[in-house]
Amino acid sequence: MGQILLISLKTDTNNDLSITIKGGRNMSSSSIVLHHFLFLLLIVCHLTSVSSWKKDEFRNCNQTPFCKRARSRKPQHCKLIATDVRIEDGELTAKLMNPQENLDENSLIISLSVYQNGILRMKIDEDPVQNPPKKRFQVPDVVLPEFQSKKLWLQRYTKDGDSFSVYLFDGYEAVVKSDSFEVFVREQSSGKRVLSFNSHGLFDFEQLRVKKEGDEWEERFRSHTDSRPYGPQSISFDVSFYGADFVYGIPEHATSLALKPTNGPGIEESEPYRLFNLDVFEYLHESPFGLYGSIPLMLSHGKSHGTSGFFWLNAAEMQIDVLGSGWDAESSILLPDQKRIDTLWMSEAGIVDAFFFIGPKPKDVVKQYASVTGTSAMPQLFATGYHQCRWNYRDEEDVKNVDSKFDEHDIPYDVLWLDIEHTDGKRYFTWDKALFPNPEEMQKDLASRGRRMVTIVDPHIKRDDNYHIHKEASKNGYYVKDATGKDFDGWCWPGSSSYIDMVNPEIRSWWADKFSYTEYVGSTPSLYIWNDMNEPSVFNGPEVTMPRDALHYGNVEHRELHNAYGYYFHMATSEGLVKREGGKDRPFVLSRAFFPGTQRYGTVWTGDNIAEWEHLRVSVPMILTLGLTGITFSGADVGGFFGNPETELLVRWYQVAAYLPFFRGHAHHDTKRREPWLFGEHNTELIRDAIRVRYTFLPYFYTLFREANMTGVPVARPLWMEFPYDEATFNNDEAFMVGNALLVQGVYTRGAKDVTVYLPRDHTWYDLKTGTAYKGGHAQKMEVTDADIPVFQRSGTIIPRKDRFRRSTLQMENDPYTLVIAVDSSGAAEGEVYIDDGKSYEFKQGAYIHRRFIFSDGKLTSVNLAAASSTSSFVSDCTIERIILLGYSSKTKSVRIEPSNHATDVELGPLQIRSGVRSSALTIRKPNVRISDDWTIRLL
Ligand code: GLC
Repeated sequence: MGQILLISLKTDTNNDLSITIKGGRNMSSSSIVLHHFLFLLLIVCHLTSVSSWKKDEFRNCNQTPFCKRARSRKPQHCKLIATDVRIEDGELTAKLMNPQENLDENSLIISLSVYQNGILRMKIDEDPVQNPPKKRFQVPDVVLPEFQSKKLWLQRYTKDGDSFSVYLFDGYEAVVKSDSFEVFVREQSSGKRVLSFNSHGLFDFEQLRVKKEGDEWEERFRSHTDSRPYGPQSISFDVSFYGADFVYGIPEHATSLALKPTNGPGIEESEPYRLFNLDVFEYLHESPFGLYGSIPLMLSHGKSHGTSGFFWLNAAEMQIDVLGSGWDAESSILLPDQKRIDTLWMSEAGIVDAFFFIGPKPKDVVKQYASVTGTSAMPQLFATGYHQCRWNYRDEEDVKNVDSKFDEHDIPYDVLWLDIEHTDGKRYFTWDKALFPNPEEMQKDLASRGRRMVTIVDPHIKRDDNYHIHKEASKNGYYVKDATGKDFDGWCWPGSSSYIDMVNPEIRSWWADKFSYTEYVGSTPSLYIWNDMNEPSVFNGPEVTMPRDALHYGNVEHRELHNAYGYYFHMATSEGLVKREGGKDRPFVLSRAFFPGTQRYGTVWTGDNIAEWEHLRVSVPMILTLGLTGITFSGADVGGFFGNPETELLVRWYQVAAYLPFFRGHAHHDTKRREPWLFGEHNTELIRDAIRVRYTFLPYFYTLFREANMTGVPVARPLWMEFPYDEATFNNDEAFMVGNALLVQGVYTRGAKDVTVYLPRDHTWYDLKTGTAYKGGHAQKMEVTDADIPVFQRSGTIIPRKDRFRRSTLQMENDPYTLVIAVDSSGAAEGEVYIDDGKSYEFKQGAYIHRRFIFSDGKLTSVNLAAASSTSSFVSDCTIERIILLGYSSKTKSVRIEPSNHATDVELGPLQIRSGVRSSALTIRKPNVRISDDWTIRLL
């Protein structure tokens, strides 16, 4: 949310109120009547007085009855046993009931199904034969339809005492223990456990019931009352991760990569990790507090098992405790003598729809998760470049000016962004006619230099009878309803607003049509979209969001799907851009809120961070966590959204963010202008360098985006994902890998003269700038200057680059490549390049180039990886203009290139073409082989 500073309120003769906000925009004139005055004043105060995170505006666990109840339960609370175990429809099913109660009352149904590659899905819901008062909500539209086809049809189970087991995959089995009820996954041969559910008996399922006299179901928080017409319906349970040294995941929190315990001996008054999509103003950088998006996927990693994962598909508010060791010291439960981390999961509503991923390698878990929720969409090439945003670029003149300054200062960039002020009174899909009279020309002008524009479209719709979107939405009944059945009316940027009910596919399709050129007047093919405030943000709502008893399509309460609202909005917008281009071009839509599956629709960023060093530092684990949980295309506002970064911080931020997947500078309207050239020639040069480095690596990034698109393995990776056996990497969140080849060490402190870098063992690491080789396996202090941050290429890898400096990705299209080969101790290396048209879906028909470069025995070979059967092809005349060899100590003077049989020299050449870089390395100059061809280069 943004801070509004100067606000003047005025009433006219009709007693209508007009509000002017600093920045000169008129928020409303006729639609806001005086009786809103006091109330408005409240919001205004809320927006003006806040200077840091307002803890009291948000509920803590103690103020959240289901969380408080769940946390207070003791181990062995659950008295359920599993009965009637059988195989039905290829699944293992059973009833869960309490033998001390009337047997058939309140039973639950559990079903276990097994999917390819080591995935167990477990559902627990109320038994439909008991006619619960309402069907509990199961999240649709997240699990891929094709995942169903991966289901293995179970034929039988094995019974051993009161345990029933089914075979999972690769020597693992799933076991349901009847009394006391427990589910676990273990290795068949050793009996070693991987994951378990309800081993501590904390499972609890509040079943829906008819309200009885005396039942107090309402809940109050600050001035808000939640009517809770269906009463308590929460679910909680414990999950244990065996062999785990650390657990990770469950974004979004501004916290470390390895999740710290939140409850247990010696941990004072800590909150659980909260998953509840919220518009949090100036969030803290070290906090379990829930931010804009939620992904209930936790991964564990350790030396003994490796990696495993647990995912709970549930869109209601969730709270998760990581239990510190000794938390269960007083319980008499005996679990196998294996190292483990216990966790407690609590949700307000929904059902148990849980997935167990057995790993055992880090990349296995992310692939298993991706097979359920999808891999990330292949971005357009331009979106992988640098984006320049600000709240706001004032008018067309400002846009022109900023754009031309990039050229004047020789800084590449691809996209210029317009925030809410470009609209006519925050009516999305419109333009402020005075400030942006010629939007089409403006976009075409940018496009003539290969640049794109992004405009903002939020989900709150101004309740103005003259606004076409509002007219249609209200007439068609497309808004979310309040608890009384009226269109929900809340406050956001435009004042009184209603919110489109994106859960309904018909409404999504209507929304998608709004992006056509005829509907979105003033839009052109080079315009893309930014979805903000889609948690959804409601300034006067409880915790700045929609009341939980608001109603969606299908009589679903907002509480049941809150965390998925923004996902549906993102989905509808993204589908709109696909429709606009007749299904030909890939969309680009940035979203603030997210949920599992978001990766299929676009990009996310980490919201309103602050221009502080600690926010730069935490942006790295936040982005790595998003990558681990499926959303690889993410980034943080470069420079920090709130406040004015000191110059050194801004420069460092560019240097780190240049290696992270989504790279955008953005700032609050109240900050000083901070375009890259405003800090003196020296700093302009440093920022230019940082952005240029990003552009030189774009062929590598694009190849990694394709890998993410095919497999789910993220572009930016925690070190332990690449070095799962190197314990020193497990909780390192200051450094990260880009793909498997580049290690980036951030610098997060003012005036740093050196940083301590841990380079993983068993590899040699080549400093990108100097070519200096470092042996991995220990932490070492390295000098740093303001010129850049330490980045290393791992031995055994080959990286494709494009080293010529251009103004945008489009202008690099035909540029030749540089290959950088860093050989390992046996003199070998491998790498890949993936190329396509950078914008269409033709790659799905085979229109792409995918080559693997293999270097061994003094010979570099290019091998085709493209699928043999394709109906389309992609041609590129690009050549390789330079091959750099790192760590290759041969007396080689020349090479022979086959099949052409021509020879060329090997000599010392520049390692990088960047200002201040004078190091050289063994270079094959102008081999001029085509990137798309088969060839071999032999060192003679
Ligand atoms: C929200 C967004 C921020 C944007 C502002 C105005 O605070 O997080 O990025 O600039 O709204 O639209």
